[in-house]
Amino acid sequence: MFPRVTALALFAGLLFAEDVRNPRTSPADVAAGAKTFHSHCSPCHGYRGEGGRGPNLAAGRFYHGSTDADLLKNISEGIPGTEMPGLFYNADRVWQVVAFIHSLSANTAKPPGDSDAGAGLFHSQGCAGCHRIRGEGGALGPDLSAIGAARSVDNLKESIVDPSAQVQPLYWTVSFEDASGKAVHGFLLNEDTYTVQLLDRAVVLHSYEKAGLKNYTIDKHSAMPSYRDKLSSQQLDDLVAYLWSQRPQ
Ligand code: HEC
Ligand code: HEC
Repeated sequence: MFPRVTALALFAGLLFAEDVRNPRTSPADVAAGAKTFHSHCSPCHGYRGEGGRGPNLAAGRFYHGSTDADLLKNISEGIPGTEMPGLFYNADRVWQVVAFIHSLSANTAKPPGDSDAGAGLFHSQGCAGCHRIRGEGGALGPDLSAIGAARSVDNLKESIVDPSAQVQPLYWTVSFEDASGKAVHGFLLNEDTYTVQLLDRAVVLHSYEKAGLKNYTIDKHSAMPSYRDKLSSQQLDDLVAYLWSQRPQ
C-alpha cells in the first residue's frame, strides 16, 4: 500500500493534472468571475488585471504556469513565499475567476463591423426579445452582457447562423402531453426518473410527475431561429462587432 502522504500527493496530482479543463466558461461564469476578481484581486492586480502590487494578468502569459490547472492551483492555494494569497473558495468559484482572467487576453483583436449598427440590428432583428444585455431585454435566451469575453468571433458567428451547432443542456427543450392531454413545451431544467422540471416561454417554472405523460421528447436543437438567410454579411459583421464589445465592466 502507498504511504498516506504519497496517496495524498497522487490525489492532488490528479486534481491538478495537466489536462484539466475549466468547466465554468459561460458568459455568466465570466461575469461572476469578474465580480470576485474586482473584490478580491483588483487591489493588487488592477481593475482590468493590468498589474500593480501583483503582476499583469491580462497578457495571457504567466510566470508560474499558464494552463488552466496551473491557474486553478495558484489562485486556490496562493504562491508560497510571495504576497500572493490563496482564495479559499470552492473550485467552481475559482474556475469562474480563471475564466475571467482568460477573457482579459482572449479575443482582443477587434473584428470588422460597426458595433453601433450592430446595436440597432440587435433590436430591429428581435434579438433583444430573447436576450438581455445589461438588464434590458427578454429572458428566454442567455444573458449576453459578457458574451464578447467568453466566445471567439467564429463562435459568435456560428451562434447566429447555425444556433443548433452547439446548445448547452440548459437550453434543450422538452415536450409532452400531460395527463389531461394538454400539450406542454419548455426548456428542460432538470429531470430524474419520476419528475421533470421545465421553464415555459414566460420563464415560469413547472414541475410534473412523469407517470401519465405522453409522447415525452427531448429536443437538443436550439430554440433560437437561424439568421443565415436573414442578414447580409455586412449585417452579420455588425452584429458580431456589437456582441464582441459586450464584456464585464
Ligand atoms: C496582496 C496582493 C495580492 C492579492 C490580493 C492577489 N494577488 Fe495574485 N499575486 C500577487 C503577487 C505579488 C504575485 C506574484 C508572485 C511572485 O511571483 O512573486 C501574484 C501572482 C499571481 C498569479 C501568478 C502570475 C504569474 O505570472 O504566474 C496569478 C494567476 C494571480 N496572482 C491571480 C490572483 C487572483 C485571481 C487573485 C484574487 C483571487 C489574486 N491574485 C490576489 C499579489 C496578490
Ligand atoms: C426566440 C428567442 C431568440 C431569438 C429571437 C434570438 N435568440 Fe439567441 N439564443 C436563444 C436561445 C434559447 C439560445 C441558447 C441555445 C443556443 O445555444 O442556441 C441562444 C443563444 C445565442 C447565443 C450563444 C450564447 C452562448 O452562450 O454562446 C448568441 C451569441 C445569440 N443567441 C445571439 C443572438 C442574436 C445576435 C440574435 C438576433 C440576431 C438572437 N440571438 C436571437 C434564443 C433567441
